[in-house]
This record gives sequence, structure tokens and C-alpha cells, in this order.
Amino acid sequence: MGLSRKEQVFLAILGASGVSGLTALILLLVEATSVLLPTDIKFGIVFDAGSSHTSLFLYQWPADKENGTGVVSQALACQVEGPGISSYTSDPAQAGESLRGCLEEALVLIPEAQHRKTPMFLGATAGMRLLRQKNSSQARDIFAAVTQVLGRSPVDFWGAELLAGQDEGAFGWITVNYGLGTLVKYSFTGEWIQPPEETLVGALDMGGASTQITFVPGGPILDKSTQADFRLYGSNYSVYTHSYLCFGRDQMLSRLLVGLVQAFSNFYYTFHFLNLTSGQPLSTVNATIWEFCQRPWKLVEASYPGQDRWLRDYCASGLYILTLLHEGYRFSEETWPSLEFRKQAGGVDIGWTLGYMLNLTGMIPADAPAQLWAVSYGVWVAKVVFMVLTLVAVVGAALVQLFWLQD
Ligand SMILES: *[C@@H]1O[C@H](CO)[C@@H](O)[C@H](O)[C@H]1NC(C)=O
Ligand SMILES: *[C@@H]1O[C@H](CO)[C@@H](O)[C@H](O)[C@H]1NC(C)=O
Ligand SMILES: *[C@@H]1O[C@H](CO)[C@@H](O)[C@H](O)[C@H]1NC(C)=O
Ligand SMILES: *[C@@H]1O[C@H](CO)[C@@H](O)[C@H](O)[C@H]1NC(C)=O
Ligand SMILES: *[C@@H]1O[C@H](CO)[C@@H](O)[C@H](O)[C@H]1NC(C)=O
Repeated sequence: MGLSRKEQVFLAILGASGVSGLTALILLLVEATSVLLPTDIKFGIVFDAGSSHTSLFLYQWPADKENGTGVVSQALACQVEGPGISSYTSDPAQAGESLRGCLEEALVLIPEAQHRKTPMFLGATAGMRLLRQKNSSQARDIFAAVTQVLGRSPVDFWGAELLAGQDEGAFGWITVNYGLGTLVKYSFTGEWIQPPEETLVGALDMGGASTQITFVPGGPILDKSTQADFRLYGSNYSVYTHSYLCFGRDQMLSRLLVGLVQAFSNFYYTFHFLNLTSGQPLSTVNATIWEFCQRPWKLVEASYPGQDRWLRDYCASGLYILTLLHEGYRFSEETWPSLEFRKQAGGVDIGWTLGYMLNLTGMIPADAPAQLWAVSYGVWVAKVVFMVLTLVAVVGAALVQLFWLQD
């Protein structure tokens, strides 16, 4: 003999409440991973107009984690063909035109619907700083040409500007510490934690026509013109930052050699070439550079076929870096091991561009982030719906049990 109709309905409703309850529970568990629905991706473009060349960086981040840290990633790094924009004094229009190739490359990666919402900046550094000193009307013409081309692109162009050396250093410092997660971290227990201040790193950077040093000093900063203060994620930072114009690599080489050498290198590239990026002691670094410089040119050419374009610069730039770090910044045998030569931190190229974009778009809030990683809205709605369904089913089952008259 089968179940009565009342018992059948009761069991069916109870089963439904079980399934629905289980679904709600699973949704509760997957919570923060929110893999169920694709989240919107946002984009930002920054042109780094340096003295010897221009680069474009395309950054992307999930829209619902705008205020998080370590979530901005680099989607594209594009080297603009030709020299730096400050070299186009005789034909300023060409400075603007030169940027088109990389811009098109970036636009392909951004969904068309997002173009208008994508901020774009161009920041010019030492090359333009020097040109403005030399002939400010030429610098103005180049900025106008660049603004004209970029202003016509479908993205939201915020402008082209000259970065002060101090800003370049400060934003480079933000980029590195953001990339390494030393400003603020989202811990696995689900809280924002502030890593101890000792984990913050200083930043040294060498461009084509200037060199920057930025760090949190142990004592007070006496010369206020070298101090940059900012408030990030609820903490105040006071960094020492100094930019030495004309001490960049090309400027040094042009004093050494006759004419400007367009080689494209800095601390990292030179040391990478010389195989000195893995924390060798100062004595080894010194010996390696001197050995390389003393090797007969014929031998050098034979050992590195096809690299002759930059090959002739590595000796001079290696010696220059060594002198700058050892005699300029006074790194000794004891403090040398604290230096790390890197191209990237946390998957983004080291430079001022990311820090600049984060600051201008307000993505690093001054106040500590109050809310946790947002659970995606879709998952939240589903959770509520299934919880309500479970409740309805349970109440339904109770009503059946209580009020269904026996048939
Ligand atoms: C600056 O450049 C413009 C255009 O090339 C030229 O006419 C002008 O004489 C220059 N001014 C100076 C001070 O060199
Ligand atoms: C940080 O600086 C702001 C001013 O910029 C000041 O009002 C605040 O008290 C400072 N906070 C701390 C913890 O020093
Ligand atoms: C580097 O090596 C050169 C040549 O061997 C030597 O004259 C110089 O003193 C060394 N410098 C340092 C900082 O060790
Ligand atoms: C970041 O941008 C704000 C304006 O939005 C500016 O006041 C502040 O000085 C910038 N931070 C740094 C480190 O330059
Ligand atoms: C980041 O969070 C702050 C509050 O903590 C908010 O005011 C700000 O608008 C947020 N920034 C963005 C870009 O959403």
C-alpha cells in the first residue's frame, strides 16, 4: 500500500526545501571566490614619454575590486617606434603621429563598449623637462601635437603633462610597493592588514636623462623640498625623494661620447646583460664590470653576435651605475646585498606609470578600505533567493502537516 496523498505532498515539499537549502549553503561557501559570473573588467592607459623613447602601458582590473590592492594587472606594454617625443622639435606633428601604433594595439584589447570609460594619460619626464628649459615654445608645440592625436581617440583622454622629477620618484615608489603588496594586503582571513613599515622598499630608477631615489628615511627630512607626503589606505607616508636631472644614462653617455646614444637601458637592463641581477656582492659586481670593460672589443663582438646596437654601451653604463650607487648613493659591501635589480614587481613593470594612474583615478583611497572583497552581486541575489525558497518550502511542509485534512 502506497503513501497517502498528504504524505506524498509533504515529502515532495520537504525534498524541495532540502535541495534549495543545500544550494544556498553551497553559494555561501563559494562566496568570495565568486567564480559563477564574469565580473566587469576596467582599463586604463598611460603613456610614459621618456627622453629616449615612449612606452604605452595598458592596465586592467576587476570593476568590483577597484579599491583592493594587488589586483591591477598589466595587459600590455608597447614600445612606441622612434625616439622620445622631445626629439621631434623640427616636426612636432610627428610626435603625435608616432603614438598611433601603440594606441591602436591597446584599443584592440579593450571591448568597444568600454572605450569611452577608459582613462588615458600621457606623462612626460626628463627629456621634455630639458627641452622646456631650452626652448619652451618647442615643448609647447610638441604637447599640442600629442594632445591633438590622443584627444581624438575614442577613450577618455585626461591630458598630457610634464611630471616633476619628485612626482616621478614618488609614483615609482608607489608602483613598487603596490606591486609587492607592502602598502596594504588582503589577508587570507578576510581582513585588510597593514604590513609592518619595515617591509616597505625604497626605489631607485634611472631613465634616459634623470635618476630618482625614493625611500622612507629613518629620521626626519631636513630639506622639505625633497619630502613627499601622502595618505594611502589610512596611513600617512613621508618619503624622501630626489631626482637628479642630467644624471640619467644618456646624458652621462653624451658627455662621455660625442652625440647622444639612443640606447635603451637602465639599471636593470645593464645588470641583466652582465648577469648581475641575482644579488652578487659588490666585489663580484665590480670585478665583472671591469673584466667586461677590459675585454678586447673583437672578443666582445664575437661573444654576443647580433647585439652590437647596445653592446658598446654596457661598459660605460655599467661603470656609471657602479659609480652612482657606490660613490653617489654610498652603497657599501655591507649594504649592497639589500639592492635588488628588477624589471617587474607583482607582474607590473616598475616605473611611475601605475602609481600615477592609481593616484589620479583615486584608486588608492586615503582612508583604510572599510568593506571586504565584495561578493559579486549575482551570487548575493542567488543566495537570498534560495534562502527564501528554503524558508517557504519548510513553512509549506509545516502547513501541510498541520492543516491538510486526512483523505
Ligand atoms: C625656439 O624654437 C623656435 C622654433 O623652432 C625658434 O623659432 C625660436 O627661435 C627658438 N627660441 C629659442 C630661444 O631658442
Ligand atoms: C595623517 O595626516 C593627516 C593630514 O594630512 C592628519 O590629519 C592625520 O592626523 C595624520 N594621521 C596620523 C595617524 O598621523
Ligand atoms: C673595482 O675594481 C677596480 C679594478 O680592479 C679597482 O681599482 C677598484 O678599487 C674596485 N672598486 C671597488 C669599489 O671595489
Ligand atoms: C595624488 O593626487 C592628488 C590629487 O588628486 C594630489 O593632491 C596628490 O599630491 C597626489 N599624490 C602624489 C603622491 O603626488
Ligand atoms: C574607494 O573607496 C572609497 C571609500 O573607502 C570611496 O570613497 C571611493 O569612491 C572608492 N574609489 C573608487 C574608485 O571606487
